[in-house]
Amino acid sequence: MDTSFVLPLTGWYEKNRRALPWRETKDPYRIWLSEIMLQQTRVEAVKAYYTRFLATLPTIADLAAADEETILKLWEGLGYYSRVRNMQKAAQYVMTHYSGVLPADYDALLALPGIGAYTAGAIASFAFDLPYAAVDGNVLRVMSRIAGDMRDIALDATKKAWKQYMETTLLTRSNAAVLNQALMELGACVCLPVGTPKCDLCPAADCCIACKQQLQHMFPVKSGKKPRKIEHLHVFFILCGNKIAIRKRGDKGLLASLWEFPNCSASVNPRQALSALGIVPSAITPLSPQKHIFTHVEWHMNCFFVTARQKDADDALLWVSPEELHARYALPSAFRPMAQEAERHMEDSGQIESKI
Ligand code: ADE
Repeated sequence: MDTSFVLPLTGWYEKNRRALPWRETKDPYRIWLSEIMLQQTRVEAVKAYYTRFLATLPTIADLAAADEETILKLWEGLGYYSRVRNMQKAAQYVMTHYSGVLPADYDALLALPGIGAYTAGAIASFAFDLPYAAVDGNVLRVMSRIAGDMRDIALDATKKAWKQYMETTLLTRSNAAVLNQALMELGACVCLPVGTPKCDLCPAADCCIACKQQLQHMFPVKSGKKPRKIEHLHVFFILCGNKIAIRKRGDKGLLASLWEFPNCSASVNPRQALSALGIVPSAITPLSPQKHIFTHVEWHMNCFFVTARQKDADDALLWVSPEELHARYALPSAFRPMAQEAERHMEDSGQIESKI
């Protein structure tokens, strides 16, 4: 491919880059955190999470020593909670084996829990100026378009081939940090995945096969994903006095070990499900149905506000005040719209005044 885009691209980046907090640092812990947060989450949404996380846990030692509820609460709403659990495991390993300092070594980074080729490449290049690629979806799109490359970017073989090419042909110790950032920035701001890319602003347009042939929409080639499985659930917001029932999910699978409102398959009769939880309802009010989309599953939820007579029901239930729920327990985003509607319902019916 024509590689003469490299200098114009890094020059363009220096002039046009967005000021993002993780771009102002060489601290590998901060870069690591940002890259983990930025997987699956938009830049704008990450900023506040990033700042709050570092205010609470400013060093790897703090992360290694934090209790699980604290790290999950800091991650609440970001999704993919195993990312932060793995970060903590890696932090503990770094405390024991590397005296609390991330190693300036790609293979050692790659061996840490939750650090794959992308994150290892990002930390190695951004923090340590090592010539490793950080090949994410943005970079694959940019490279496929410039090269006019029709290989399927959903395949590991294609990602590996681009990584290998970039590391042998494009990246050096002196340009790795800025070129990797520039490719990501171009993908995020100019070489857009949907709609019309802004080729008139692109510093690589002169080298870009897709642009020259006006075939931008043909690239990248990406094979289809499997359709998501749909699960139908009943979810119960159960209030007894001023306490709300929550419970901890199992330690395997989706949202493992996080807190949830009691729920069951929608194939079960809701009254029977409540009875199985030992709940004797004095009123059941339907709330709006909700939908939540995960990567591989969609939840379609029938939601109910239940007023319970007594709360010495199932041992698995934990009864918390709205204030405790808000302050201490990480509630996955799937349950948020229902919690907010239930809160309005409590206020309207005068059952409680405080906010969730
Ligand atoms: N997406 C992934 N990593 C990023 C970074 N370092 N800056 C901006 N967007 C990103």
